[in-house]
Amino acid sequence: MTGKKKAVKKLPASVKIKAVRGMSDILPEEMKFWRHLENLAHYLFRLYGYKEIRQPLLEETGLFARSIGDDTEIVKKEMYIIKEKEGENLSLRPEATASLVRAFLEHSLYRESGIKRYYYLGPMFRRERPQAGRKRQFHQVGVEAIGSGHPALDAEVISLAGRFLIEAGIKNFEIQLNHLGCQDCRKKYIKVLKDYFKTFQRALCPDCQRRFDTNPLRILDCKKEACQALIKSAPKVSNSLCLRCREHFIQVQKFLESLEIDFRLNARLVRGLDYYTGVVFELIHPELGAQNALAAGGRYDNLIEKFGGPSLPATGFSFGLERVIMALKKEEVPVAELAETEIFLIVLGEANFGEGFKILQTLRGEKLKGEMDFENKSLKACLRQANKIGVKFVLILGDEERQKQSIMVKDMAGGEQKLVRIEKLTEFLKKLLKKS
Ligand code: HAM
Repeated sequence: MTGKKKAVKKLPASVKIKAVRGMSDILPEEMKFWRHLENLAHYLFRLYGYKEIRQPLLEETGLFARSIGDDTEIVKKEMYIIKEKEGENLSLRPEATASLVRAFLEHSLYRESGIKRYYYLGPMFRRERPQAGRKRQFHQVGVEAIGSGHPALDAEVISLAGRFLIEAGIKNFEIQLNHLGCQDCRKKYIKVLKDYFKTFQRALCPDCQRRFDTNPLRILDCKKEACQALIKSAPKVSNSLCLRCREHFIQVQKFLESLEIDFRLNARLVRGLDYYTGVVFELIHPELGAQNALAAGGRYDNLIEKFGGPSLPATGFSFGLERVIMALKKEEVPVAELAETEIFLIVLGEANFGEGFKILQTLRGEKLKGEMDFENKSLKACLRQANKIGVKFVLILGDEERQKQSIMVKDMAGGEQKLVRIEKLTEFLKKLLKKS
């Protein structure tokens, strides 16, 4: 960008402005699902000693290029990049692990002793082709545990992901595991892969022909049909693992078995981000079609050092909340309704409005959920409105009630009504609500 200000293009008034493609509004009727999962994340992750952290939505583009990898689909094709006047390149975060590592180093959080456990929730942005379960703005909850290479930490994180789904109410999911090897196994595997793909190099798509030289591992997550056929018969990473990595993988499985966690080994699970080393995993829901990964994660033992920090092994995962909500709906998991308005106050006659307005404020002060209309509508119209909202009780304040310093309380379910003195109203309603 130059120093000159660019004029903002004006849209003709006839053009309807809609939400950006792949970015959805979350309407009030959907909110119970979000609250269900967000509340669970706050409760469950804290139970395991994870502390909440929030990072900015915008970061320097270089952060993602260096961690997720220059040659990944995410960095190459899917980032929303904003050019700053000063020439800086910023990106909307496509995920949160990279920015967590950035924050971890920037605030020297590695100085704290022991394993450092964090969790986060919020929106992520990827310019993918939208479809069911794939959005351009989507929401993750995730955890990252830094500072231990012990296989028990892998097992803790994987079992926590499983427990999140179980506590959310989801029954039908599968945990899949693979081991991508350490840096040494990786070198060996890359050589084996190159030897294999060399014979078929010309049959690969143009992107993979380039990846053959720059990052052969990324060929494994190419979705093009021509490459898929070759990938199916490609050598598996499990055959290139060193003894230490093999032993680590066995230990992780033993710890999971000791916790009675079911899992399945999937040698084709490679993950589309470059920072992974060691054990990686996905939680799959079999009824979600092409976008069936509810969560994904794994070890990234070299990432912190790569950013100039101490050598600290780490692992973590993120859930895609839109997909978890799809699974909740597929399985028809009952989710508690959010506490809605309990009381609707109807004031009859302008002269009584001020008194009614004050009464409602008092009730709200007593933590009773109430609302009223300000338009001086007829009793019939107000009752219709109260019915639509689904309140339990209607309060009616007209001239007669006011003269008696009382208010009419109508039970919307049973239809009974009772005149209650205003000073007794809070106590009376609280008792009724408790009973209902
Ligand atoms: P990821 O596999 O890129 O990993 O994303 C994790 C989860 O986010 C996916 O399994 C999926 O549920 C959800 N997700 C990803 N892209 C979309 C999308 N376009 N629309 C809807 N949901 C989506 C990561 O993001 C890593 N940071 C996970 C991690 C944490 N690894 C270690 N720590």
